[in-house]
Amino acid sequence: MAYRQVLLGVSGGIAAYKAAELTRRLRAAGAEVRVVMTRAAQAFVAPLTFQALSGNPVRLDLLDPAAEAGMDHIELARWAELVLVAPASADLMARLAAGMADDLLTTLSLATAAPLVLAPAMNQQMWRHPATQANARRLEERGVRLLGPASGEQACGEVGLGRMLEPAAIVEALISAPAAGNLTGKDLGHIAATEIAPATETAPAADDLAISRPTASPLAGRQVLVTAGPTREAIDPVRYIGNRSSGRMGYALAQALVGRGARVLLVSGPTALPAPAGVELVRVESALEMHEAVMGRIAGQDLFVATAAVADYRVADPAPTKIKKGQAELTLRLVRNPDILAAVAALPDGPFTVGFAAETERVEEQALNKLRAKGLDMIAANRVGGPQGGFEREDNALTVIHRDGRVDPLALMPKARLAEALTDLIEEAYAARSATQDS
Ligand code: PMT
Repeated sequence: MAYRQVLLGVSGGIAAYKAAELTRRLRAAGAEVRVVMTRAAQAFVAPLTFQALSGNPVRLDLLDPAAEAGMDHIELARWAELVLVAPASADLMARLAAGMADDLLTTLSLATAAPLVLAPAMNQQMWRHPATQANARRLEERGVRLLGPASGEQACGEVGLGRMLEPAAIVEALISAPAAGNLTGKDLGHIAATEIAPATETAPAADDLAISRPTASPLAGRQVLVTAGPTREAIDPVRYIGNRSSGRMGYALAQALVGRGARVLLVSGPTALPAPAGVELVRVESALEMHEAVMGRIAGQDLFVATAAVADYRVADPAPTKIKKGQAELTLRLVRNPDILAAVAALPDGPFTVGFAAETERVEEQALNKLRAKGLDMIAANRVGGPQGGFEREDNALTVIHRDGRVDPLALMPKARLAEALTDLIEEAYAARSATQDS
Protein backbone atom coordinates (compact mmCIF):
# COMPACT_ATOMS: atom_id res chain seq x y z
CA MET A 1 0.00 0.00 0.00
CA ALA A 2 1.26 3.51 -0.88
CA TYR A 3 0.44 4.79 2.62
CA ARG A 4 2.75 3.54 5.38
CA GLN A 5 1.44 5.78 8.19
CA VAL A 6 -2.32 5.92 8.47
CA LEU A 7 -4.18 8.04 10.96
CA LEU A 8 -7.55 6.34 11.37
CA GLY A 9 -10.32 8.58 12.68
CA VAL A 10 -13.36 6.84 14.11
CA SER A 11 -16.53 8.85 14.60
CA GLY A 12 -19.73 7.81 16.32
CA GLY A 13 -21.95 5.26 14.65
CA ILE A 14 -22.82 1.61 14.83
CA ALA A 15 -20.37 1.03 11.97
CA ALA A 16 -17.55 2.01 14.40
CA TYR A 17 -17.14 -1.68 15.11
CA LYS A 18 -16.08 -2.17 11.48
CA ALA A 19 -13.17 0.17 12.15
CA ALA A 20 -11.64 -2.54 14.33
CA GLU A 21 -11.41 -4.90 11.38
CA LEU A 22 -10.24 -2.00 9.24
CA THR A 23 -7.35 -1.40 11.67
CA ARG A 24 -6.35 -5.04 11.40
CA ARG A 25 -6.54 -5.01 7.61
CA LEU A 26 -4.56 -1.78 7.31
CA ARG A 27 -1.80 -3.27 9.41
CA ALA A 28 -1.90 -6.48 7.40
CA ALA A 29 -1.43 -4.29 4.28
CA GLY A 30 1.78 -2.95 5.82
CA ALA A 31 0.62 0.33 7.37
CA GLU A 32 1.32 1.62 10.85
CA VAL A 33 -2.00 2.77 12.26
CA ARG A 34 -2.72 5.38 14.91
CA VAL A 35 -6.33 5.75 15.94
CA VAL A 36 -8.19 8.88 16.97
CA MET A 37 -11.72 8.48 18.29
CA THR A 38 -14.44 11.07 18.73
CA ARG A 39 -16.30 11.09 22.00
CA ALA A 40 -19.38 9.54 20.36
CA ALA A 41 -17.27 6.72 18.86
CA GLN A 42 -16.30 5.69 22.40
CA ALA A 43 -19.92 4.91 23.12
CA PHE A 44 -19.77 2.17 20.47
CA VAL A 45 -16.28 0.66 20.81
CA ALA A 46 -13.83 0.85 23.69
CA PRO A 47 -10.53 2.63 22.94
CA LEU A 48 -8.71 -0.40 24.33
CA THR A 49 -9.88 -2.43 21.33
CA PHE A 50 -8.11 -0.06 18.95
CA GLN A 51 -5.07 0.13 21.18
CA ALA A 52 -4.72 -3.64 21.09
CA LEU A 53 -5.34 -3.87 17.33
CA SER A 54 -3.16 -0.93 16.30
CA GLY A 55 -0.38 -1.52 18.79
CA ASN A 56 -0.39 2.23 19.53
CA PRO A 57 -2.06 4.36 22.19
CA VAL A 58 -5.42 5.69 21.07
CA ARG A 59 -5.89 9.47 21.07
CA LEU A 60 -9.18 10.81 22.37
CA ASP A 61 -8.89 14.45 23.38
CA LEU A 62 -7.33 17.58 22.04
CA LEU A 63 -6.83 18.99 25.50
CA ASP A 64 -5.10 15.99 27.07
CA PRO A 65 -1.82 17.18 28.64
CA ALA A 66 -0.51 13.63 29.11
CA ALA A 67 -1.07 12.63 25.50
CA GLU A 68 0.14 15.96 24.16
CA ALA A 69 3.35 15.51 26.13
CA GLY A 70 4.09 12.52 23.88
CA MET A 71 3.32 13.06 20.19
CA ASP A 72 1.37 16.32 20.19
CA HIS A 73 -1.45 16.84 17.76
CA ILE A 74 0.64 18.84 15.31
CA GLU A 75 3.30 16.13 15.27
CA LEU A 76 0.56 13.56 14.78
CA ALA A 77 -0.86 15.57 11.87
CA ARG A 78 2.64 15.71 10.32
CA TRP A 79 3.24 12.01 10.95
CA ALA A 80 0.17 10.93 8.93
CA GLU A 81 0.62 10.03 5.27
CA LEU A 82 -3.11 9.49 5.05
CA VAL A 83 -6.01 10.51 7.28
CA LEU A 84 -8.82 8.00 6.89
CA VAL A 85 -12.07 8.59 8.75
CA ALA A 86 -14.21 5.47 8.94
CA PRO A 87 -17.00 5.65 9.79
CA ALA A 88 -17.55 9.31 8.94
CA SER A 89 -20.87 10.36 10.44
CA ALA A 90 -23.11 13.10 9.04
CA ASP A 91 -22.15 15.27 11.98
CA LEU A 92 -18.44 14.81 11.39
CA MET A 93 -18.82 15.55 7.66
CA ALA A 94 -20.72 18.73 8.51
CA ARG A 95 -18.02 19.84 10.93
CA LEU A 96 -15.27 19.08 8.40
CA ALA A 97 -17.16 20.87 5.64
CA ALA A 98 -17.49 23.91 7.89
CA GLY A 99 -13.76 23.80 8.64
CA MET A 100 -14.34 23.42 12.36
CA ALA A 101 -11.63 22.31 14.80
CA ASP A 102 -13.72 21.54 17.85
CA ASP A 103 -12.20 18.19 18.73
CA LEU A 104 -9.00 16.27 18.08
CA LEU A 105 -10.12 14.60 14.86
CA THR A 106 -11.38 17.76 13.14
CA THR A 107 -8.31 19.67 14.34
CA LEU A 108 -5.99 17.02 12.91
CA SER A 109 -7.91 17.06 9.65
CA LEU A 110 -7.19 20.78 9.34
CA ALA A 111 -3.62 20.54 10.56
CA THR A 112 -2.50 17.77 8.23
CA ALA A 113 -1.11 18.06 4.73
CA ALA A 114 -1.95 14.39 4.12
CA PRO A 115 -4.87 13.36 1.87
CA LEU A 116 -8.16 13.03 3.73
CA VAL A 117 -10.40 10.08 2.88
CA LEU A 118 -13.86 9.56 4.39
CA ALA A 119 -15.99 6.44 4.50
CA PRO A 120 -19.44 7.87 5.27
CA ALA A 121 -21.91 5.83 7.32
CA MET A 122 -25.31 7.04 8.35
CA ASN A 123 -29.03 6.55 8.00
CA GLN A 124 -30.00 6.66 4.31
CA GLN A 125 -32.31 9.65 4.75
CA MET A 126 -29.52 11.56 6.48
CA TRP A 127 -27.20 10.72 3.58
CA ARG A 128 -29.78 11.90 1.04
CA HIS A 129 -30.51 15.10 2.94
CA PRO A 130 -29.52 18.14 0.87
CA ALA A 131 -27.39 19.40 3.77
CA THR A 132 -25.29 16.21 3.81
CA GLN A 133 -25.12 16.14 0.02
CA ALA A 134 -23.95 19.76 0.00
CA ASN A 135 -21.32 18.93 2.63
CA ALA A 136 -20.15 15.93 0.60
CA ARG A 137 -19.85 18.09 -2.52
CA ARG A 138 -18.02 20.81 -0.62
CA LEU A 139 -15.55 18.33 0.79
CA GLU A 140 -14.98 16.68 -2.59
CA GLU A 141 -14.41 20.07 -4.19
CA ARG A 142 -11.65 20.59 -1.64
CA GLY A 143 -10.01 17.32 -2.62
CA VAL A 144 -11.40 15.16 0.17
CA ARG A 145 -12.17 11.69 -1.17
CA LEU A 146 -15.31 9.79 -0.26
CA LEU A 147 -15.35 6.00 -0.29
CA GLY A 148 -18.96 4.98 -0.45
CA PRO A 149 -21.36 4.89 1.19
CA ALA A 150 -22.76 1.55 0.08
CA SER A 151 -26.38 0.75 -0.37
CA GLY A 152 -28.39 -1.90 1.41
CA GLU A 153 -30.48 -2.71 4.41
CA GLN A 154 -29.69 -0.66 7.49
CA ALA A 155 -29.81 -1.48 11.18
CA CYS A 156 -32.63 1.04 11.57
CA GLY A 157 -34.73 -1.11 9.22
CA GLU A 158 -34.47 1.24 6.27
CA VAL A 159 -32.94 0.48 2.92
CA GLY A 160 -30.73 2.78 0.89
CA LEU A 161 -27.35 4.41 0.56
CA GLY A 162 -25.64 4.97 3.87
CA ARG A 163 -23.84 1.82 4.89
CA MET A 164 -20.13 2.06 5.48
CA LEU A 165 -18.09 0.24 2.86
CA GLU A 166 -16.71 -3.05 4.09
CA PRO A 167 -13.16 -2.75 5.51
CA ALA A 168 -11.81 -5.04 2.77
CA ALA A 169 -13.22 -2.73 0.07
CA ILE A 170 -11.74 0.34 1.77
CA VAL A 171 -8.29 -1.22 2.01
CA GLU A 172 -8.57 -2.49 -1.56
CA ALA A 173 -9.40 1.04 -2.71
CA LEU A 174 -6.40 2.45 -0.85
CA ILE A 175 -4.11 -0.22 -2.24
CA SER A 176 -5.26 0.36 -5.80
CA ALA A 177 -4.74 4.14 -5.43
CA PRO A 178 -1.50 4.65 -7.30
CA ALA A 179 -0.20 7.44 -5.07
CA ALA A 180 -1.24 9.82 -2.36
CA GLY A 181 -3.67 12.36 -3.73
CA ASN A 182 -4.58 10.24 -6.73
CA LEU A 183 -7.39 8.41 -5.07
CA THR A 184 -10.54 9.56 -6.70
CA GLY A 185 -13.73 9.35 -4.79
CA LYS A 186 -15.49 9.14 -8.09
CA ASP A 187 -13.87 5.97 -9.26
CA LEU A 188 -14.91 4.57 -5.95
CA GLY A 189 -18.48 5.19 -6.92
CA HIS A 190 -18.64 1.71 -8.33
CA ILE A 191 -17.06 0.29 -5.22
CA ALA A 192 -19.84 1.89 -3.27
CA ALA A 193 -22.28 0.47 -5.72
CA THR A 194 -21.02 -3.06 -5.45
CA GLU A 195 -20.54 -3.40 -1.74
CA ILE A 196 -23.58 -4.68 -0.01
CA ALA A 197 -23.09 -6.99 2.90
CA PRO A 198 -26.10 -9.04 3.83
CA ALA A 199 -26.07 -8.08 7.50
CA THR A 200 -27.54 -4.89 8.87
CA GLU A 201 -25.28 -2.53 10.65
CA THR A 202 -25.77 1.10 9.72
CA ALA A 203 -27.85 2.93 12.25
CA PRO A 204 -28.33 6.50 13.31
CA ALA A 205 -25.42 7.25 15.58
CA ALA A 206 -24.72 9.40 18.58
CA ASP A 207 -22.82 11.81 16.31
CA ASP A 208 -25.81 11.70 14.05
CA LEU A 209 -28.56 12.44 16.49
CA ALA A 210 -31.28 13.41 14.12
CA ILE A 211 -34.68 12.18 13.18
CA SER A 212 -34.78 9.01 11.21
CA ARG A 213 -37.70 9.35 8.85
CA PRO A 214 -39.20 6.06 7.77
CA THR A 215 -38.99 5.61 4.02
CA ALA A 216 -41.99 4.40 2.20
CA SER A 217 -40.58 4.68 -1.26
CA PRO A 218 -43.22 4.22 -3.93
CA LEU A 219 -40.58 2.14 -5.69
CA ALA A 220 -40.21 -0.36 -2.84
CA GLY A 221 -41.10 -3.81 -4.13
CA ARG A 222 -41.59 -2.51 -7.70
CA GLN A 223 -39.99 -4.33 -10.60
CA VAL A 224 -37.74 -2.13 -12.66
CA LEU A 225 -35.99 -3.03 -15.87
CA VAL A 226 -32.97 -0.84 -16.64
CA THR A 227 -30.90 -0.93 -19.83
CA ALA A 228 -27.31 0.28 -19.72
CA GLY A 229 -24.09 0.45 -21.63
CA PRO A 230 -23.37 0.41 -25.34
CA THR A 231 -24.28 -2.13 -27.96
CA ARG A 232 -21.88 -3.70 -30.43
CA GLU A 233 -22.93 -4.30 -34.00
CA ALA A 234 -20.77 -6.94 -35.65
CA ILE A 235 -18.98 -6.14 -38.89
CA ASP A 236 -17.21 -9.50 -38.95
CA PRO A 237 -16.16 -11.93 -36.20
CA VAL A 238 -13.48 -9.52 -34.88
CA ARG A 239 -14.81 -6.01 -35.55
CA TYR A 240 -17.88 -4.11 -34.52
CA ILE A 241 -19.55 -0.71 -34.55
CA GLY A 242 -19.81 0.54 -30.99
CA ASN A 243 -20.14 3.77 -29.03
CA ARG A 244 -18.58 5.49 -26.05
CA SER A 245 -21.05 4.46 -23.35
CA SER A 246 -19.27 3.04 -20.29
CA GLY A 247 -22.45 1.89 -18.57
CA ARG A 248 -21.70 4.02 -15.49
CA MET A 249 -24.90 6.05 -15.64
CA GLY A 250 -27.13 3.00 -16.02
CA TYR A 251 -25.34 0.95 -13.38
CA ALA A 252 -25.51 3.86 -10.94
CA LEU A 253 -29.24 4.14 -11.59
CA ALA A 254 -29.74 0.42 -11.09
CA GLN A 255 -27.95 0.74 -7.75
CA ALA A 256 -29.96 3.77 -6.71
CA LEU A 257 -33.21 1.96 -7.54
CA VAL A 258 -32.16 -1.05 -5.46
CA GLY A 259 -31.51 1.42 -2.67
CA ARG A 260 -35.19 2.39 -2.81
CA GLY A 261 -36.24 -1.20 -2.39
CA ALA A 262 -37.00 -1.89 -6.07
CA ARG A 263 -36.31 -5.26 -7.67
CA VAL A 264 -34.00 -4.37 -10.49
CA LEU A 265 -33.23 -6.28 -13.65
CA LEU A 266 -30.34 -4.75 -15.55
CA VAL A 267 -29.94 -5.57 -19.23
CA SER A 268 -26.48 -4.38 -20.12
CA GLY A 269 -24.38 -4.11 -23.20
CA PRO A 270 -20.65 -4.85 -22.87
CA THR A 271 -19.05 -2.85 -20.04
CA ALA A 272 -16.08 -3.24 -17.73
CA LEU A 273 -18.29 -2.76 -14.66
CA PRO A 274 -19.09 -5.43 -12.09
CA ALA A 275 -22.73 -6.30 -11.47
CA PRO A 276 -24.17 -3.88 -8.91
CA ALA A 277 -25.06 -5.71 -5.72
CA GLY A 278 -28.66 -6.72 -5.42
CA VAL A 279 -29.27 -6.38 -9.15
CA GLU A 280 -30.08 -9.21 -11.55
CA LEU A 281 -27.80 -8.69 -14.54
CA VAL A 282 -28.36 -9.95 -18.07
CA ARG A 283 -25.47 -9.27 -20.41
CA VAL A 284 -26.06 -8.80 -24.10
CA GLU A 285 -23.99 -7.55 -26.98
CA SER A 286 -26.01 -6.21 -29.90
CA ALA A 287 -29.11 -4.05 -30.16
CA LEU A 288 -31.09 -7.04 -31.43
CA GLU A 289 -30.00 -9.09 -28.40
CA MET A 290 -30.93 -6.21 -26.08
CA HIS A 291 -34.30 -5.89 -27.80
CA GLU A 292 -34.95 -9.60 -27.35
CA ALA A 293 -33.77 -9.60 -23.71
CA VAL A 294 -35.98 -6.62 -22.85
CA MET A 295 -39.11 -7.65 -24.73
CA GLY A 296 -38.87 -11.17 -23.31
CA ARG A 297 -38.80 -9.83 -19.74
CA ILE A 298 -40.93 -6.70 -19.86
CA ALA A 299 -44.19 -8.35 -18.81
CA GLY A 300 -44.83 -7.58 -15.14
CA GLN A 301 -42.29 -4.74 -14.96
CA ASP A 302 -43.57 -1.59 -13.26
CA LEU A 303 -40.91 0.75 -14.63
CA PHE A 304 -38.57 0.77 -17.59
CA VAL A 305 -35.49 3.00 -17.56
CA ALA A 306 -33.59 3.14 -20.86
CA THR A 307 -30.09 4.37 -20.17
CA ALA A 308 -28.40 2.25 -22.82
CA ALA A 309 -26.80 3.81 -25.85
CA VAL A 310 -28.39 1.47 -28.37
CA ALA A 311 -27.06 1.52 -31.90
CA ASP A 312 -29.70 2.87 -34.25
CA TYR A 313 -28.21 0.85 -37.12
CA ARG A 314 -26.56 -2.51 -37.54
CA VAL A 315 -24.55 -4.00 -40.37
CA ALA A 316 -26.98 -5.66 -42.76
CA ASP A 317 -24.77 -8.65 -43.55
CA PRO A 318 -21.89 -9.14 -41.09
CA ALA A 319 -19.10 -11.11 -42.76
CA PRO A 320 -18.82 -14.68 -41.44
CA THR A 321 -15.01 -14.52 -41.57
CA LYS A 322 -12.51 -11.71 -40.96
CA ILE A 323 -12.60 -9.12 -43.73
CA LYS A 324 -9.20 -8.82 -45.41
CA LYS A 325 -7.81 -5.44 -46.36
CA GLY A 326 -7.60 -6.22 -50.08
CA GLN A 327 -9.78 -3.44 -51.44
CA ALA A 328 -8.97 0.28 -51.24
CA GLU A 329 -12.53 1.02 -50.10
CA LEU A 330 -15.10 -0.90 -48.17
CA THR A 331 -18.77 -0.07 -47.99
CA LEU A 332 -20.93 -1.33 -45.14
CA ARG A 333 -24.68 -1.39 -45.61
CA LEU A 334 -26.52 -0.49 -42.42
CA VAL A 335 -30.12 -1.21 -41.55
CA ARG A 336 -32.26 0.22 -38.74
CA ASN A 337 -32.40 -1.51 -35.38
CA PRO A 338 -35.70 -1.74 -33.51
CA ASP A 339 -36.25 1.09 -31.04
CA ILE A 340 -36.53 -0.76 -27.73
CA LEU A 341 -37.77 2.20 -25.71
CA ALA A 342 -40.47 3.07 -28.25
CA ALA A 343 -41.57 -0.57 -28.35
CA VAL A 344 -41.91 -0.72 -24.55
CA ALA A 345 -43.71 2.63 -24.35
CA ALA A 346 -46.20 1.43 -26.97
CA LEU A 347 -47.19 -1.67 -24.99
CA PRO A 348 -50.79 -1.67 -23.78
CA ASP A 349 -50.67 -1.40 -19.94
CA GLY A 350 -46.92 -0.97 -20.26
CA PRO A 351 -44.60 0.20 -17.49
CA PHE A 352 -43.79 3.75 -16.45
CA THR A 353 -41.15 4.70 -19.00
CA VAL A 354 -38.05 6.82 -18.45
CA GLY A 355 -35.97 7.48 -21.54
CA PHE A 356 -32.62 9.15 -21.96
CA ALA A 357 -31.57 11.46 -24.75
CA ALA A 358 -27.94 11.95 -25.72
CA GLU A 359 -27.65 15.08 -27.79
CA THR A 360 -24.84 17.31 -28.99
CA GLU A 361 -27.03 20.36 -29.68
CA ARG A 362 -30.51 21.76 -28.87
CA VAL A 363 -30.57 19.23 -26.07
CA GLU A 364 -33.84 20.16 -24.38
CA GLU A 365 -35.79 20.66 -27.61
CA GLN A 366 -34.69 17.34 -29.09
CA ALA A 367 -35.31 15.50 -25.84
CA LEU A 368 -38.84 16.90 -25.67
CA ASN A 369 -39.42 15.71 -29.24
CA LYS A 370 -38.27 12.21 -28.25
CA LEU A 371 -40.50 12.20 -25.17
CA ARG A 372 -43.53 13.09 -27.31
CA ALA A 373 -42.66 10.87 -30.30
CA LYS A 374 -42.12 7.80 -28.13
CA GLY A 375 -44.91 8.58 -25.64
CA LEU A 376 -42.68 8.49 -22.55
CA ASP A 377 -43.43 9.49 -18.97
CA MET A 378 -40.06 11.17 -18.46
CA ILE A 379 -36.87 11.79 -20.33
CA ALA A 380 -33.42 12.62 -18.98
CA ALA A 381 -31.38 14.54 -21.50
CA ASN A 382 -27.65 14.97 -21.47
CA ARG A 383 -25.23 16.84 -23.64
CA VAL A 384 -22.64 14.49 -25.09
CA GLY A 385 -19.47 15.05 -27.08
CA GLY A 386 -18.34 18.03 -24.99
CA PRO A 387 -15.68 18.37 -22.33
CA GLN A 388 -18.07 17.72 -19.44
CA GLY A 389 -20.53 14.98 -18.64
CA GLY A 390 -22.13 12.37 -20.88
CA PHE A 391 -20.37 9.28 -22.19
CA GLU A 392 -17.48 7.65 -20.34
CA ARG A 393 -17.04 10.38 -17.78
CA GLU A 394 -17.35 10.14 -14.03
CA ASP A 395 -19.69 13.13 -13.84
CA ASN A 396 -22.82 14.02 -15.72
CA ALA A 397 -25.56 16.63 -15.77
CA LEU A 398 -29.15 16.00 -16.83
CA THR A 399 -32.18 17.98 -17.88
CA VAL A 400 -35.20 15.97 -16.85
CA ILE A 401 -38.40 16.63 -18.75
CA HIS A 402 -41.73 15.32 -17.53
CA ARG A 403 -44.74 14.33 -19.59
CA ASP A 404 -46.52 17.56 -18.58
CA GLY A 405 -43.59 19.64 -19.84
CA ARG A 406 -42.10 20.40 -16.43
CA VAL A 407 -38.32 20.64 -16.56
CA ASP A 408 -35.95 19.73 -13.71
CA PRO A 409 -32.29 20.52 -14.30
CA LEU A 410 -29.81 18.37 -12.38
CA ALA A 411 -26.37 19.97 -12.16
CA LEU A 412 -23.03 18.34 -13.01
CA MET A 413 -22.12 15.83 -10.30
CA PRO A 414 -20.74 12.30 -9.91
CA LYS A 415 -23.00 9.78 -11.65
CA ALA A 416 -23.73 7.90 -8.41
CA ARG A 417 -25.14 11.05 -6.87
CA LEU A 418 -26.89 12.10 -10.04
CA ALA A 419 -28.56 8.69 -10.14
CA GLU A 420 -29.92 9.31 -6.63
CA ALA A 421 -31.28 12.72 -7.67
CA LEU A 422 -32.90 11.28 -10.79
CA THR A 423 -34.36 8.44 -8.73
CA ASP A 424 -35.93 11.05 -6.44
CA LEU A 425 -37.69 12.53 -9.49
CA ILE A 426 -38.71 9.11 -10.79
CA GLU A 427 -40.12 8.24 -7.36
CA GLU A 428 -42.15 11.43 -7.30
CA ALA A 429 -43.47 11.10 -10.86
CA TYR A 430 -44.24 7.40 -10.44
CA ALA A 431 -46.14 8.06 -7.22
CA ALA A 432 -48.11 10.87 -8.91
CA ARG A 433 -49.03 8.64 -11.85
CA SER A 434 -50.04 5.78 -9.55
CA ALA A 435 -52.22 8.19 -7.54
CA THR A 436 -53.96 9.38 -10.73
CA GLN A 437 -54.55 5.81 -11.87
CA ASP A 438 -55.98 4.83 -8.48
CA SER A 439 -58.40 7.75 -8.31
O1 PMT B 1 -22.76 4.90 -20.10
P1 PMT B 1 -22.12 6.21 -19.70
O2 PMT B 1 -20.71 6.33 -20.19
O3 PMT B 1 -22.27 6.47 -18.23
O4 PMT B 1 -22.90 7.39 -20.45
C1 PMT B 1 -24.23 7.65 -20.15
C2 PMT B 1 -25.05 7.93 -21.41
C3 PMT B 1 -24.54 9.18 -22.08
C4 PMT B 1 -24.96 6.75 -22.38
C5 PMT B 1 -26.53 8.09 -20.93
O5 PMT B 1 -26.62 9.15 -20.03
C6 PMT B 1 -27.47 8.33 -22.10
O6 PMT B 1 -27.67 9.43 -22.57
N1 PMT B 1 -28.09 7.24 -22.60
C7 PMT B 1 -28.92 7.27 -23.81
C8 PMT B 1 -28.05 7.23 -25.02
C9 PMT B 1 -28.83 7.21 -26.31
O7 PMT B 1 -28.71 6.27 -27.06
O8 PMT B 1 -29.63 8.23 -26.52
P2 PMT B 1 -30.56 8.40 -27.83
O9 PMT B 1 -30.96 9.82 -27.76
O10 PMT B 1 -29.86 7.93 -29.04
O11 PMT B 1 -31.76 7.44 -27.55
C10 PMT B 1 -32.96 7.87 -26.92
C11 PMT B 1 -33.52 6.80 -26.02
O12 PMT B 1 -33.97 5.69 -26.80
C12 PMT B 1 -32.53 6.23 -25.02
O13 PMT B 1 -33.24 6.04 -23.81
C13 PMT B 1 -32.10 4.91 -25.62
O14 PMT B 1 -31.79 3.95 -24.62
C14 PMT B 1 -33.36 4.50 -26.37
N2 PMT B 1 -33.11 3.70 -27.58
C15 PMT B 1 -32.45 4.24 -28.64
C16 PMT B 1 -32.29 3.50 -29.79
C17 PMT B 1 -32.80 2.18 -29.83
N3 PMT B 1 -32.66 1.43 -30.91
N4 PMT B 1 -33.44 1.69 -28.78
C18 PMT B 1 -33.60 2.41 -27.64
O15 PMT B 1 -34.18 1.92 -26.66
